[in-house]
Amino acid sequence: MHEDIETIVLTEAEIRARITELGDEISRDYGDEPILLVAVLRGAALFIADLARSISSPVEIDFMAVSSYGSSTKSSGVVRIIKDLDESLEGRHVLVVEDILDTGLTLKYLLKNLASRGPKTLEVITLLSKQGKQRVPISCKYIGFDVPDEFVVGYGLDYAERYRNLPYIGILKPAVYSE
Ligand code: PRP
Repeated sequence: MHEDIETIVLTEAEIRARITELGDEISRDYGDEPILLVAVLRGAALFIADLARSISSPVEIDFMAVSSYGSSTKSSGVVRIIKDLDESLEGRHVLVVEDILDTGLTLKYLLKNLASRGPKTLEVITLLSKQGKQRVPISCKYIGFDVPDEFVVGYGLDYAERYRNLPYIGILKPAVYSE
């Protein structure tokens, strides 16, 4: 285990097993219908890579990057699109892939934006959902794990851009924050 990690919340094996289950469920739901997986950078990059490989339906992937307008306006949920999708969503089955659903504000804004582009269906999958933290209701079709409201890192999730490459998800030692 990495020396900065206090506790492992989800092991590499648990994450892998759950993604296999999610991929099977998605493949059953969509069948032979093509799916456009849309990941929101950067955290979801690792999840989409593994998820895409666990789905047997035809899959395309695309990426977008967003940034909030700053901490004072984060509560408004207004985000700036830094990198937009390359693909058109018109008439397509779109599945937005997120690493973590916290307040839900990012997704609320994004879903409104994506819905206006005419997808046939628009659903969300999140690897993690923080219990009791959602400030706006988000209809999430697939949830990997409900997690307690702790600051978690690993498997795409960062603290100051570090720890994204840990193969498991864990809680940082408090000393790391105060350094
Ligand atoms: C995280 C996550 C979601 C958002 C969720 O991204 O990937 O996009 O926060 O938070 P919310 O539900 O409170 O809106 P982050 O801003 O940490 O960027 P990153 O993916 O590049 O690490």
